[in-house]
Amino acid sequence: MPQGFVWEFSKRYIAGKVIDDAIVACKELNKQGVIVTLDVLGEFIKTLDEAEANKNEYLNVIEVGEKNKIKGNYSLKPTMFGLLIDPEVCYRHIRDIVAKAAEHKNFIRVDMEDTPCTSLEIELFRKLKKEFPANVGLVVQAYLRRTLHDITDMLDLNTPEIPVNFRLCKGIYTEPKELAYKEYEEINEHYLEDLEFMFRNKIYVGIATHDKPLVDAAYKLIEKYNVPENMYEFQMLYGVTPELRQSIVYKGHKMRVYVPYGVKWFAYCTRRLKENPKMAGMIIKALFKRG
Ligand code: FDA
Repeated sequence: MPQGFVWEFSKRYIAGKVIDDAIVACKELNKQGVIVTLDVLGEFIKTLDEAEANKNEYLNVIEVGEKNKIKGNYSLKPTMFGLLIDPEVCYRHIRDIVAKAAEHKNFIRVDMEDTPCTSLEIELFRKLKKEFPANVGLVVQAYLRRTLHDITDMLDLNTPEIPVNFRLCKGIYTEPKELAYKEYEEINEHYLEDLEFMFRNKIYVGIATHDKPLVDAAYKLIEKYNVPENMYEFQMLYGVTPELRQSIVYKGHKMRVYVPYGVKWFAYCTRRLKENPKMAGMIIKALFKRG
């Protein structure tokens, strides 16, 4: 696919190619009462030199974000730091990033990638959480058959003083049916089962979805368990379903938007499209709606 064409339909979902673009987008969202999580695009690197460069970029992003008083935190993908090449090197890089965020009393969200990474990312999170209990969180994917078990297993990390902080999403990668639920209904059913489990066990959760029925069901669970405001937030991706996003903000719930930027936008977008061709339909629809 030609880059120009891909950029045409991707630019709504990517805040820009450089940090200054992302800062503009973050400030605009902050003005709308929405907090952010900043993400530098890149994943599945080939050499550890790239890992070092990526770490330096994240350290710089934190500096710039803090200097600009952005209301938000940071998300990263461990394969961008060599998770599948050398997990120990990856850990050291991410540890430096979390330490930098902790200096600013801020927070790093470890994104969850595909199933060859799941156990490694949980292990990485456990290690980081021990050293930085309040400065790191993990993503869990409702479509994985193992997820409720994983969450249960991580309950030992949860304390009333510093709850575990998860982002709950459906999951975006193509996985075999032995490992993942495939149908919309069963994914949603497990999403709500996981969410209810988190509320019952007083885990902090970022409810990451653009799916209206899930948002409505989440409202009901928040009410049912009388979940305090400081124990959950909603999360959405940059440029996706802004009307639903606003409606959640107007109801008074905390909303965080995931703001990705970077020169690796082309690889990121084409990979997402290959993994989930359904997205191409959504993106193209959005393109025509805009015009
Ligand atoms: P679903 O896919 O059913 O979409 C519901 C509706 O939302 C659609 O019908 C459409 O209207 C709208 N919509 C969704 N995506 C759209 C798009 N791209 N363009 C236009 N409309 C769209 N995944 C993962 O595996 N690891 C991770 O770390 C993360 N991190 C993450 C952070 C945040 C903040 C969010 C919101 C999502 C993720 N994801 C993720 C992605 C997640 O797993 C999932 O693939 C997408 O959020 C889409 O799922 P929905 O819950 O929105 O439902």
